[in-house]
Amino acid sequence: MFGGVSRVLTGRLIREIIRWPNLGGLGGVSSWRYFVLTHFGTRETRMKSTVEQIRARFDNDVERFSNLETGQSATIDAPLVLELISQAAAATNPGAKDLLDVGCGAGNYSLKLLHSLPDLNVTLIDLSRPMLERAEQRLRPLTKGHIEVFQSDVRDLDLGEARFDVIVAAAVLHHLRTDAEWEAVFAKFFKALRPGGSIWISDLIEHSSAAIQEMMWRRYGEYLVGLKDEAYRETVFAYVTQEDTPRPLMYQLDLLRKVGFRQVEILHKTSVFAAFGAWT
Ligand SMILES: C[S@@+](CC[C@H](N)C(=O)[O-])C[C@H]1O[C@@H](n2cnc3c(N)ncnc32)[C@H](O)[C@@H]1O
Repeated sequence: MFGGVSRVLTGRLIREIIRWPNLGGLGGVSSWRYFVLTHFGTRETRMKSTVEQIRARFDNDVERFSNLETGQSATIDAPLVLELISQAAAATNPGAKDLLDVGCGAGNYSLKLLHSLPDLNVTLIDLSRPMLERAEQRLRPLTKGHIEVFQSDVRDLDLGEARFDVIVAAAVLHHLRTDAEWEAVFAKFFKALRPGGSIWISDLIEHSSAAIQEMMWRRYGEYLVGLKDEAYRETVFAYVTQEDTPRPLMYQLDLLRKVGFRQVEILHKTSVFAAFGAWT
């Protein structure tokens, strides 16, 4: 067994060394120190982007995230998942009045949900002020409900108790780092939902088995090359390595149950992406 694991790790190490020169933009940190920290530390100590760095990246990416159909081409099946989540939320909570969109970006998910659940009150949370401004501007004409906007890290914000019927969190939770953060944020979501309320998550995920992760990651790389080219694959892989700490789908489903959700449901899973939900 350990032979298999070490073969996978050695393979990964060799590949990382080969593609290492592509990981640019490292500021004042020496490349080798950065390499060691990002690849040999624990999940918590690996040097990843700070909240400030993540905010700055998204501040400059508003246009891309304002396009429902093509904005997230690096995410496999993004338009399908948007459709599935909005329909699942409407089917689960047809009388919903209050929606919370966590890491709302330019508002794609709220926008879609307002077509199935009109006149919702919408609460938007994002690190990035320009993203929130764009989201509010796009949503304002679509609802008679009120729109509340919070520029905050979701980890830091008190979401209150029994305030929402539906929560969506799309392509954002992979920025959570430690187990304690994941659990605290999921528990906060549970507390913030009314009885019968639901949460819907779509995100980059990891696999528990190193061999399966390896295989799925290779397939994702092939998808990116097919979409554009090898340079694009390397760019996407570089920012995932730099910025993201995704967790397995099963880890997240177990955690949703652990913090109190009664039922969980998988809507879609393809290579390193999944869409799923839970209700109280
Ligand atoms: C990949 S975009 C997705 C936007 C939107 N959910 C969508 O699917 O179109 C991720 C968004 O999450 C925000 N974000 C990242 N980490 C966050 C955090 N810890 N708290 C709140 N927002 C965060 C980013 O600023 C960015 O706008």
